[in-house]
Amino acid sequence: MQITYYGHSCFLAEIKGKKLLFDPFISGNELAKEINIATIEADYILLSHGHFDHVADAEAIALATGATIIANYEVAMWYAAKGIKNYHPMNHGGSWKFDFGTVKAVNAVHSSGLPDGSYGGNAMGFLILNDEKNFYYSGDTALTLDMQLIPMFAKIEFSIMPIGDNFTMGLEDAAAAAKMVQSNTVIGVHYDTFGFIKINKEKAKAVFKDKGLDLLLPNIGETIEV
Ligand code: NI
Ligand code: MN
Repeated sequence: MQITYYGHSCFLAEIKGKKLLFDPFISGNELAKEINIATIEADYILLSHGHFDHVADAEAIALATGATIIANYEVAMWYAAKGIKNYHPMNHGGSWKFDFGTVKAVNAVHSSGLPDGSYGGNAMGFLILNDEKNFYYSGDTALTLDMQLIPMFAKIEFSIMPIGDNFTMGLEDAAAAAKMVQSNTVIGVHYDTFGFIKINKEKAKAVFKDKGLDLLLPNIGETIEV
């Protein structure tokens, strides 16, 4: 499966010819200034929660592409009220079968206010089940025992998790999360964008390697095969 990283927690996964864009925060990210959001194609935009560093470019990309926004009920309805026509509200524990596969909304331990102060429901993660490779995107979250449920739901091939600490899991907790979800390959996100979440990439990879885990840190704009 091809994954393209667009900085911070934004990435694009291509499944069965469909393009799934997660948590677009690009135009306001100094580190991603080479990326022009007008060039991004998407069929679906999945939003883990309402914080600006996950939703900032969702409206513009949804309007440009006609992509369907998949998010918790409160976030999805916030976009509906703005005039977005294609949206799919979910909530924790629920699954829905789309044309690329099934999305299961799972717990995340984090907050979720929307950029204008509106209530943003609760933060979630997504389990993406499909014919190619199942994966788990935790969204912004603390390490939580709920992650032990993931292998009960499905065998996953890789996960995408925050590693920047301060607002989310740091390296040690993300490595423990990888053990809980029983997948050794982790694409690290949510680091370096702001002062509070700067990391040393080589040290980060070593922390994972010491525990028998593989931490992938693609460059912004890079497409990797996982
Ligand atoms: Ni957040
Ligand atoms: Mn965040």
